[in-house]
Parts: sequence; C-alpha cells; structure tokens
Amino acid sequence: MKLLVLGSGGREHALAWKLHESQRMEELYCAPGNAGIAQEAECIPVDLSQLKAVVALAKKLRADLTIVGPEAPLVAGIVDEFEKEGLAIIGPNKAASRLEGSKVFAKEFMRRHGIPTARFEVAETFEDAIKALVRFPLPVVVKADGLAAGKGVVVARNHAEAEQAVQDFMVRKTLGTAGDRVIIEECLTGEETSFIVLTDGRAILPMVPTQDHKALLDGDQGPNTGGMGAYSDDSILTEALHDEILRSMVAPTLAGMEMEGSPYRGFLYCGLMMTPAGPMLLEYNVRLGDPEAQPILMRLRSDLTDLLVASREGQLASVDVHWSPNPSICVVLTSKGYPAKPETDKTITGYEAVEALGGVKIFHSATRFEDHQLLTTGGRVMGVTAIAEDLPSAIQRAYAGVNKLQFEGMHFRNDIGAKALKRVPKITAPKRTRVPKAERPASRK
Ligand code: AMP
Ligand code: GLY
Repeated sequence: MKLLVLGSGGREHALAWKLHESQRMEELYCAPGNAGIAQEAECIPVDLSQLKAVVALAKKLRADLTIVGPEAPLVAGIVDEFEKEGLAIIGPNKAASRLEGSKVFAKEFMRRHGIPTARFEVAETFEDAIKALVRFPLPVVVKADGLAAGKGVVVARNHAEAEQAVQDFMVRKTLGTAGDRVIIEECLTGEETSFIVLTDGRAILPMVPTQDHKALLDGDQGPNTGGMGAYSDDSILTEALHDEILRSMVAPTLAGMEMEGSPYRGFLYCGLMMTPAGPMLLEYNVRLGDPEAQPILMRLRSDLTDLLVASREGQLASVDVHWSPNPSICVVLTSKGYPAKPETDKTITGYEAVEALGGVKIFHSATRFEDHQLLTTGGRVMGVTAIAEDLPSAIQRAYAGVNKLQFEGMHFRNDIGAKALKRVPKITAPKRTRVPKAERPASRK
C-alpha cells in the first residue's frame, strides 16, 4: 500500500516509523515531515491548512490510505474533503472533530450523555464570565472554547488570576476567535491519564494507557506545555478502572455521537483526571496524543497498517492486537524559551550515539538538516523514547540517550515516569534462573 502521514511532529515520526516496518507498506510519504521522519518516509512540503492542496497531493501520490496526525486539519474538515473525492483517510470528520474543536460543544455533550466531568458554566460575554467565577471555589479553571495549541487552559489560584485569563481570552483576544466563549470550571485534583482508543464507530480498540507530563519543570511546576514526556505502563490503570472508563466514557461518547448524527471514527483521546471520586473526563482530543503516541507505538507489536485498514473498513472487531508487556517512555527535549518564545537554529549533536544504544529511538519533532548539520526549528525538538523489561530500566535507558544529546539551551524534565515508581510498590517478580551446572547435585552413579 501507498501510505501518507500528515504532520511534522514526534507523533508523526512514531507513526511513520511503525508504518515503515509494516508488511503491507510499499511506499511511505509524510507531509510536511521533518529531518527525522525523512529517515523512514519521503517527506513532501505542504501547508496542512490548505485542505485542497493536501487532497491534490494525496491524489498525485495515489495514496491508498492517509493518516492525520494533528488536530487542526481534522477540525478544519480534511476528512470530509478526502471523502468527497473517494480518498481513504483515518480520522473523524468535521462534525465529529467538534469534540476537540469546541470545548463548549465537548462539555455540553458530556453533560447530555451523563459522562463524568467537572462542574462547569459556559460564558458568552466578559461580564457573564466574571459573574460565573464567584460561583466556583478556588482554584478555578478558565478555558477558551476553541483550539489553542495547549495555551487555552488556565488553572487560576485566585480571582485576580482568573479575571486576567478571562480578560486575555475574551477582551485582549490573545487566542483570536478561540476565546470568544469561555468555560469556567471546577478544578479537579488527582493524577492525569491519557486513555486513547482507535474506533471504527462501533468496535473500540484501546491503546495501552499512558501518562503525559504537561508542566515544563520537574515536580509538575511551571507553565503547561504540549507535553514534556510520557510513559506507558500497565500499572497506570487497574483492569477495573480500564473497564469503567470504557463503560462510562468511551462507549457513551461513541453512542452519543452516533445518536446525534456525527458518528465518530479514528483515534479518540480521553484526557482523564483520576480523582478520589473516580475517573473524570477533562477533555477529548480527536487524535493520538503527542508525546503519548511515541511510547504507545513503541509497545505495539501488531502491524499498524492492519489496524488502520480494519478501522477504515469497519472491521476493527475482528482484529487481534498484540502489545509488548514491557513499559516504554519518551523524554522530550525542548528549546530555550519554550513554550513562550522558543529559540531555533541550534546545532544538535550526539544523535548517532543514541541510535547505537539498543531499545532507544529518537522521534524528531522540530528539526531540519542543513549542510550536514541537524538543527532545531521549534519548541519541542525531539523525544528520546525507550522500552525495557521494567519501568526503571526504561527510564534509565531513555535518560542514557538524553545525556548523549546536546544543543544550546536544551531543556528536559528529569522526572518523567517518576510518579509511577512512587505509586507502585516495587514488587520484583522472582526471576526464573537456571541452576548453575556446578551446583547441580551430582547424579548418583
Ligand atoms: P485541556 O486542554 O482541557 O487538556 O487541559 C489542559 C490541562 O489543563 C489538563 O491536562 C490539566 O492538566 C489541566 N486541566 C484542565 N481542566 C482541569 C480541571 N477541571 N481541573 C484541573 N486541571 C485541569
Ligand atoms: N500530550 C497532550 C496532547 O497531545 O494533547
């Protein structure tokens, strides 16, 4: 098959890497891609906001299947454009992508369908938002309605901070029209979990669970980012919680979307807060997470093309998926100034040494090659992703890779995965060992 991945981040690099090893892959393209993705796929420049140009590219390449990485083209309706032309594509259409494109739609949808979520009010004007704020205890969460690339949520510790957020979104229009409406929401506490599924609208194929690290600095301090690192380990969710999330969140979401005339297909990401009262849904994303995709795809043993084709054909119920039991982790390296104003064009060294380590892969996010040099081009530069027989070993392996890399102003968190080590009492299963020959009892003569 001729496969086309749309996007240019670490998630798309992981998708391309996994598709590259697929038995069914004959040609693999990525648009626009980056320097790392170019190792796995032929990268073709394209502006993903120009939907007609993307359709024309897929036609020119005769792509049999296109996989969309980021949310913006999905929310803009790229799936509708492809389907109008009879082109196969993975992802929800424009109507279904409202689950991420409008937080007001998503929260009201959750309320309509009894999906556990934080108490909230929608405000259409600045005055209504200010009035609503006092009806919530502190801290209080202020959210812009539209897409904001991770900048649309403020957890305000006091009313002054909350009012500032409302002012920024609704009056100063720091996020453009995305801040025309806001949500004022109860602040929840607990650990966050990313629960992602692939669905054909009826069957649900859960990915292994992951935990992202949104804050810039160790100990969950500093501003929120797109994600500073993620790990996947079966200890993140008990079987009972896994089933509860499927039953109380994922299934009613798919049934509700179908009932409302917008059946959902593709990857669906439920961002959860595991509160003392049980899991609550913070938000939907209509795609794989970044950096969650990197540890998820590292654990996937099945052929990704098979899963995608089955989801496209409504045959997901009949596929068997195989995962590595081993945990995986991705540590993201960012540029100085990220997330506000990242520096760029710094030379990256040491990547050859990382690739030489076993069980480690660098997924590039914002890189380009020029004059035989690898250069940074944005905030999240790359994610060092590792898999090993247990989480401490995976963490150690990933950081061994990180320590070989260098660029001016390079930043990363030192505590990716550390929460899991604290949470799970470390019970090491007794390892099976062979009795050494010398210690075997001498056989009787
Ligand atoms: P979202 O864009 O909705 O994913 O929100 C981004 C981040 O804001 C989440 O990952 C949480 O860390 C935080 N957040 C969102 N809603 C809440 C809430 N109700 N209570 C506490 N934190 C929240
Ligand atoms: N890592 C969070 C996201 O992809 O939205």
